[in-house]
Amino acid sequence: MPESQWTDVGLCEDLKQQSLQEITYGKTRIALTYTNDTFSAISGVCNHVGGPLGKGRLDGDYVVCPWHYWKFHQKTGKGEAGYEQDQVPAYPTKIENGRLYVDLSSATIGKKQPHEPHPLACPVVRQAGPDVSSALPQRR
Ligand code: FES
Repeated sequence: MPESQWTDVGLCEDLKQQSLQEITYGKTRIALTYTNDTFSAISGVCNHVGGPLGKGRLDGDYVVCPWHYWKFHQKTGKGEAGYEQDQVPAYPTKIENGRLYVDLSSATIGKKQPHEPHPLACPVVRQAGPDVSSALPQRR
């Protein structure tokens, strides 16, 4: 098991000002929520195609991705009902001396279930194209 990596993400009083926000630490993006006097942290990268969850909105206990509206539970990272197998990593949090810490090493495992293509999605069909070799620069 990896060693804990408790990371100071800021003053609780400041972080309480927004119910959902994106915080970054190095290359790690986190969607941080504050509801019912509790902080929660899940990955800030959507399972679908990487939308910024911390820049979405809250719908009850779910963080809604701003790109295509997939939802992930703010505490567990699990997808909404029927999509629980879609899960973004969730991180432990703790408060010490008025500051919030997130353990970046102890995230839960993210999962993604297979999805049917969108009904409006067009199938990709590869076809032979024109011969463009004469248009390429010639080697001498
Ligand atoms: S990238 Fe989040 S729903 Fe598509």
